[in-house]
Amino acid sequence: MNDNQQQKDCRTAADYIRPRLKKPPKIGIILGTALGSLANEITVSAQFPYREIPGFLQATAPSHAGLLINGSLAGQDVVCMSGRFHYYEGYSFAQLAAPIQLFKLLGVQLVIITNAAGAINLSYRPGDLMLISDHLNFMGAAPTRGPNPDEFGPRFFDVSHVYAPELRLLAKEVAGTLGTGLHEGVYAYMTGPQFETPAEIRALRTLGADAVGMSTVPEALAAAHCGLPVLGISVLTNMASGILPVDAPISQVEEIGNIAAADLATLIKGVLSALP
Ligand code: HPA
Repeated sequence: MNDNQQQKDCRTAADYIRPRLKKPPKIGIILGTALGSLANEITVSAQFPYREIPGFLQATAPSHAGLLINGSLAGQDVVCMSGRFHYYEGYSFAQLAAPIQLFKLLGVQLVIITNAAGAINLSYRPGDLMLISDHLNFMGAAPTRGPNPDEFGPRFFDVSHVYAPELRLLAKEVAGTLGTGLHEGVYAYMTGPQFETPAEIRALRTLGADAVGMSTVPEALAAAHCGLPVLGISVLTNMASGILPVDAPISQVEEIGNIAAADLATLIKGVLSALP
């Protein structure tokens, strides 16, 4: 699919959804692997299985529901993607911008992006949460590569503050009040679906990464392109490859993700309540 087609598909999806929304959303949320339980806490006013949205992508990854939910959460009008898209599913980077561009077309002003990630920082533990302060993207991943989608943003754009400092400050204050532990660190993007080699993890640590995962960065870049501030939170489901004297515990991603999803939900609801 070429990139112009992707912009058209986005508009088709937005035109389908907009008149069916009961509550125009201010906040867009993307839920990561095994983190779908937050969706159950939304007071739903409308919901759309991805397969019913014309022009939209289909979620194929395990533990990704494939449902766009509109409603209210902690006093805010939200639209939430329960089930996200990854490069390893075969989508192009341009396609990975679709959820964010759809949010933008629906009037969203702020995006919350969550993910499951492996801990690279040796002081982190499985089950901990990490606020994303910045990212490393060595994958050549640019969701706006190709003809620039001018209606969303300019050809060249700044990525000094993708993860909005004021939202990070707010998240840290809320975590402090709630007594939720919250690290702050750098997320390294790897396309997967294979987990990383121990050598890759050592290299990423040397280069300044605290956590690693297979999502978030294409969406965060698309958000930066269209001027949407991002709050990014990783749930650290496992220690990354080579840290422990066992193979990377892939089964832990869902198990720990499901447990830590409760802390993540509490934190996100706290942030939403504290927003104006
Ligand atoms: N590596 C990449 N992606 C992940 C990991 C990991 O260790 N854990 C959860 N998602």
